[in-house]
Amino acid sequence: MSEWVHVGQTSDIDEEDLIRFDHEDGRTFAVYNTEKGFFATDGFCTHEAQHLEDGLVIGTVIECPLHQGRFDVTNGRALSAPACVDLKTYPVKLEGDEIYIEI
Ligand code: FES
Repeated sequence: MSEWVHVGQTSDIDEEDLIRFDHEDGRTFAVYNTEKGFFATDGFCTHEAQHLEDGLVIGTVIECPLHQGRFDVTNGRALSAPACVDLKTYPVKLEGDEIYIEI
């Protein structure tokens, strides 16, 4: 069953940046502030177990800090090698300045 989880406030994430959110159940996520709004994905790159938190956000693309694989954060699609498996994405909603993701 899914649940909406509070991950922070809009002011916590600079434009074209992301934050890491660690759930108490052990799962970890990345939450992005992009030119098209806020998005959420799994925290770890699908290529190797590298967290995306130190990656580079370019428009709506996240570039992995380890081997520079790229993903579209709006749909999780892997865009460039060596990343070839899509990232899982999660719905995001805003209530005022509060950000929630559905996991
Ligand atoms: S770990 Fe992300 S591209 Fe290799």
